[in-house]
Amino acid sequence: MTIYKAPRGTHDIFGLDAIGLELLDTISRRVFKKHNFKEIKTPIFEDAALFTRSIGEATDIVEKEMYVFEDRKGRKLALRPEGTASLVRAYIEHRLDMLDPVNKYFYCGEMFRYERPQAGRYRQFTQMGAEYLNNPNPNADVEIILLAKEILSALNINDVVIHINSLGCEKCRPIFRQKLVDYFSSIKDLCEDCKRRLEKNPLRLLDCKIDSQKFQNVPTMQECLCDDCKNHFDKVQTLLRSVGCEYVVDDKLVRGLDYYTRTVFEVRSNAVGSQDAICAGGRYDNLVKELGGQQISSVGFALGSERVLMAARNTGFFDKLPKNDLIFIALADNELFDEAFKFANNLMINKENIRQKLNLCDNIIVEGPFLNKSLKSQFKLADKLNACKTILFGKTEFDKGTILVKDMKTQQQEEVSLD
Ligand code: HAM
Repeated sequence: MTIYKAPRGTHDIFGLDAIGLELLDTISRRVFKKHNFKEIKTPIFEDAALFTRSIGEATDIVEKEMYVFEDRKGRKLALRPEGTASLVRAYIEHRLDMLDPVNKYFYCGEMFRYERPQAGRYRQFTQMGAEYLNNPNPNADVEIILLAKEILSALNINDVVIHINSLGCEKCRPIFRQKLVDYFSSIKDLCEDCKRRLEKNPLRLLDCKIDSQKFQNVPTMQECLCDDCKNHFDKVQTLLRSVGCEYVVDDKLVRGLDYYTRTVFEVRSNAVGSQDAICAGGRYDNLVKELGGQQISSVGFALGSERVLMAARNTGFFDKLPKNDLIFIALADNELFDEAFKFANNLMINKENIRQKLNLCDNIIVEGPFLNKSLKSQFKLADKLNACKTILFGKTEFDKGTILVKDMKTQQQEEVSLD
């Protein structure tokens, strides 16, 4: 018989990972909302051309990583490889520039890229992202960086390095591009990928894993920035310093998506392996127009939930989580099952303030009752589940109108009236 497995590069999420994902979701939502970001949910698949147009034809994502398929009517669709393009599409489609006085949005969801899987790199992964549209000023870049940092900090991920760079604009980037083409053309024995990218996307050569050692005194974008871009980048740095946010300027940071202009950044963590970019983003001043909207300058980021959770796990965040109290309902006589079942249900919905009467906290988990199990095996199960209290329904007590409440730590038992 065929034993089915999850497709390569995907994984089932359960146990601590499921708890972590839920927690990251809760924490991020709280931070996003505090900064007045509102949620937008977009479809998991879109017109494939939306991504080709925005991310760029010569990028790895579009060239070899998109899951593209045709639907029954022959429409070319793609599973979303990232969230920015979809969000901008939704923004234009619903005229949110007219509807919302401030255009700050967030999203959470699964993304799909056909990459070579390894630890921290998957074919289906989750991103939490924020996009601040319609604000050309450097303070928006800084707010976005601080937002990402605040979420990471709430998960005890503080050992991070924030890399920033400016990729300039349509005025100054072509100068840099040409300088790079001239420089790289003089280098012999470039790898096949670099040779291919030299014409189409020379910036990507800067972060080539194979060739980057060969590159000495490479031209930098910093030398080529026009006055406006330079002022913008200087202001971003001044603001970051003014709030005590440490960063490094990294002129090799070019990012794998073509829509960026000016500020780009990556947050790298020492608590994960080689896939150390746990969060990344930047400014995209032309994307809205490029996709048919107004000239609207914007900036955003996305963090990779799996990588963030890996970092949180390695910094011991999960060890300190407050535990829920589990209450185990045990049954000494099968004939009392219906009563015990009703009681468990009342406990869950806290009918008649039953939890307060039994001195239980609000975050309880209720397990049981089970039929046809010996009392010994029920108490064993309660121990395995780490129950804090076991409530026992026994015939003798029940006939008196009472139940036994046992504290599993102290082993003390108390007889409590069912009323
Ligand atoms: P990105 O750098 O492609 O940017 O992805 C952002 C984050 O998603 C990465 O830093 C990483 O943590 C995570 N990530 C990416 N690919 C994978 C993968 N295959 N497996 C696991 N995690 C992954 C974007 O997607 C841009 N849309 C970010 C942005 C928003 N820029 C402006 N606004």
